[in-house]
Amino acid sequence: MKILKKTMLFTVWIIILSALGFYLVTTLINEKTDKRLFLPADTSNGHHQIEEQCDLCHEPFGELKEQGCLDCHAKSLSKASDSHEVKLFKDPRNEQMLEDMNAASCLTCHNEHQQDNYPNGVTVAKDFCVHCHEDVAEDRVTHKGLEFDNCTECHNYHDNTALYEDFLAKHLDEKDTFKEGKLPQRNFLHFYSKKAKHSLDALKLVDHNAPESVDLSLGQDWLESSHAEAGINCLDCHSKKEGDWVNKPNFSYCESCHKKTIQGFLAGKHGIRLAQELSAMTVSQARLPMLEGADAENKILNCTACHSAHKFNVVEAAVSSCLNCHADEHSIAYKKSKHFQLWQDEQQGALEKGAGVSCAGCHLPRETKGKKRKRKSKRIKRVNVQHNQSHNLSPNQKMLRGVCMNCHGLGFSLDSLADKELIKNNFSSLPKKHLKMLEMVKERI
Ligand code: HEC
Ligand code: HEC
Ligand code: HEC
Ligand code: HEC
Ligand code: HEC
Ligand code: HEC
Ligand code: HEC
Ligand code: HEC
Ligand code: HEC
Ligand code: HEC
Ligand code: HEC
Repeated sequence: MKILKKTMLFTVWIIILSALGFYLVTTLINEKTDKRLFLPADTSNGHHQIEEQCDLCHEPFGELKEQGCLDCHAKSLSKASDSHEVKLFKDPRNEQMLEDMNAASCLTCHNEHQQDNYPNGVTVAKDFCVHCHEDVAEDRVTHKGLEFDNCTECHNYHDNTALYEDFLAKHLDEKDTFKEGKLPQRNFLHFYSKKAKHSLDALKLVDHNAPESVDLSLGQDWLESSHAEAGINCLDCHSKKEGDWVNKPNFSYCESCHKKTIQGFLAGKHGIRLAQELSAMTVSQARLPMLEGADAENKILNCTACHSAHKFNVVEAAVSSCLNCHADEHSIAYKKSKHFQLWQDEQQGALEKGAGVSCAGCHLPRETKGKKRKRKSKRIKRVNVQHNQSHNLSPNQKMLRGVCMNCHGLGFSLDSLADKELIKNNFSSLPKKHLKMLEMVKERI
């Protein structure tokens, strides 16, 4: 009797275990199922939104594919003239450094699913520069006695576009704030008009080309938008094929005219899920502090999250839309800053266009394509609103050239961005921190 009971129990166990095994294996093999069950620990802040797509970084049976990292990051690192690009270590003079530290592999410094929280995806010890720059104090008088765990206060590993010596030397004694400082003007229409195949005359409501069955109550919003003013009609957004009407067009319906904008949006955290053909991110999936309440938490991140159809307003999009979702200390503090005051004055016409600084002024910066215009050349440079809000965020000195230095001197900007308290209060006071970078450059001249 006892033996029979034992065998029965054993059989039941075998059945349960095989069922579990079968479930796990099919989950692992099936492309569509959620594999987060197999995660060893949380994924980093940079990637948690797409962690269910294991195959972006792993081969089917788990091995890591580093090519995945490069597919997504190589282009932007090379655009930032990566100071330590992998190519550097293929040079026979530097090859031997790799024995100390394998800087040819991203994983040496960026790991994933770690128990400890590494806020910016950097998992290497802070003083790692010592492996290769041990003799920096001998080579440079300015660096005598500097601690190796502080190097990243003044240098970045990858992006030093605003931190190299020649650049610093060009901006030594600048004013804290330039009186005439402002952001460049947007000018998309100018370039669009050159290749548009339709008239750019403003449309009236009777000109609409929606099928008869379509509800026209949204027509008034469209009428007041810059789209109607530039001759963009209903079907330009609501149809890809003649005769079709799609009632709720997604971002792909904007692509025929706003390709670059969409590329930016998809490359940053707001569009990171849509880029992987996952459902759009919702506020409830965020790790950053967000506004609470069912309404806010269900908010979806797509184009209309910031400029709602059909006004496609850019003023609302620049501040109040952000604050419909974001609720961290820095975001909330913005309305107390001089920048916000300036921005309000700009909207009311009391200041010149571009003199104010909205959330978007820093996070969706207006980028001018190509080098700064030479005084003589009359050609207008394309100014593009960078919709990748992660692009200039980390390390934050990426904001120096494209944003702050339109209005502030380099020294003031460097100090402000290095001051953690200022970031918390959204630049509502003067910097208390001082980096001695410019003094160091002067010492060498
Ligand atoms: C953004 C890239 C990325 C994504 C997405 C990702 N991983 Fe990883 N994963 C890594 C990296 C990097 C490592 C560390 C590999 C190493 O050290 O060799 C790792 C390690 C692991 C390990 C430990 C392997 C070992 O050898 O210790 C497991 C298990 C794992 N991942 C499972 C998953 C699963 C399951 C998913 C999907 C639900 C996933 N990962 C999604 C990047 C990623
Ligand atoms: C599917 C595209 C994709 C893949 C694959 C991918 N990343 Fe990322 N990664 C992103 C995006 C998007 C962000 C967030 C925006 C940003 O910081 O640029 C990010 C952020 C980061 C960050 C900065 C994190 C932060 O919070 O500032 C690091 C470091 C990083 N990735 C390294 C890697 C490494 C190493 C791998 C390979 C194991 C990898 N990435 C694979 C898209 C990807
Ligand atoms: C020897 C260490 C090291 C290696 C190797 C390394 N990184 Fe980094 N990475 C860093 C550090 C440190 C940061 C933090 C910001 C900084 O100092 O530039 C960083 C930041 C980043 C960021 C955030 C954005 C930025 O521009 O700073 C990305 C993305 C990134 N690394 C991707 C990669 C990829 C992809 C590889 C492999 C080709 C790689 N890293 C190799 C040390 C390293
Ligand atoms: C694996 C070796 C290695 C590590 C680790 C390393 N570097 Fe370098 N670094 C190099 C090499 C090689 C060069 C190029 C040598 C040259 O041009 O003289 C270089 C160049 C530089 C430059 C000049 C950059 C330029 O654009 O010309 C700076 C600044 C620098 N490193 C700072 C750092 C800092 C700060 C760290 C740590 C955060 C670090 N490095 C970590 C090997 C390394
Ligand atoms: C207070 C800011 C500051 C700190 C901290 C700092 N540096 Fe520098 N570093 C500079 C400045 C400014 C320059 C350019 C002028 C000069 O050489 O003094 C420079 C130049 C360099 C260069 C030469 C770059 C080139 O283009 O050839 C290297 C390499 C370097 N630093 C490495 C380091 C390392 C490694 C550490 C950490 C021990 C470190 N720095 C800490 C500000 C700093
Ligand atoms: C610039 C692009 C654009 C133009 C031009 C445009 N629409 Fe739309 N329309 C959209 C988008 C985007 C949505 C989806 C909004 C959403 O997802 O909430 C939409 C949604 C709609 C809806 C569905 C609303 C609902 O909630 O069900 C109707 C009806 C509509 N549009 C009618 C029109 C009419 C009529 C015109 C012309 C007079 C027009 N649209 C012109 C982009 C456009
Ligand atoms: C047929 C071309 C076309 C399509 C399709 C199109 N747009 Fe536009 N869009 C334009 C033009 C032209 C302008 C410039 C108007 C101006 O500056 O006066 C513009 C301007 C904008 C602006 C800035 C508005 C302002 O007041 O400055 C936003 C936001 C915008 N579009 C969003 C969208 C979205 C979202 C979609 C897709 C749902 C979309 N557009 C589809 C042509 C298009
Ligand atoms: C519909 C809600 C929503 C709106 C509107 C919105 N965001 Fe976000 N934002 C998010 C979510 C969700 C994340 C991802 C947070 C996370 O992963 O923890 C995010 C991330 C960010 C990040 C961090 C990026 C990074 O790489 O770490 C910045 C900066 C940001 N948003 C700025 C803005 C600005 C500026 C605006 C307005 C112009 C804005 N957001 C509008 C929801 C929103
Ligand atoms: C996080 C909020 C946010 C999201 C999401 C967003 N936009 Fe914008 N967009 C803005 C803001 C803010 C501006 C105005 C910036 C300025 O005035 O400098 C803008 C400007 C624009 C412009 C005018 C660009 C120019 O050069 O004049 C276009 C076109 C546009 N957005 C299209 C889109 C499309 C298409 C999407 C979806 C793929 C999208 N936006 C998603 C906030 C957003
Ligand atoms: C003057 C420029 C400036 C303005 C204006 C500004 N920010 Fe920022 N923001 C920054 C900088 C710089 C950082 C990077 C902080 C760091 O290095 O950790 C940042 C970080 C963030 C982050 C990421 C926080 C995190 O913990 O990763 C979010 C989200 C954000 N800002 C949203 C906003 C919103 C929303 C507004 C408007 C209400 C706004 N910001 C206004 C400069 C600005
Ligand atoms: C469009 C111009 C413009 C841009 C861009 C801009 N600022 Fe400002 N900022 C100003 C003006 C004007 C003031 C007010 C100066 C005054 O009152 O003397 C100011 C004030 C400040 C203050 C002092 C605030 C106070 O309460 O005294 C700090 C700190 C600051 N800015 C930092 C930054 C940083 C960091 C960036 C880049 C991320 C930046 N600003 C981008 C125009 C700008």
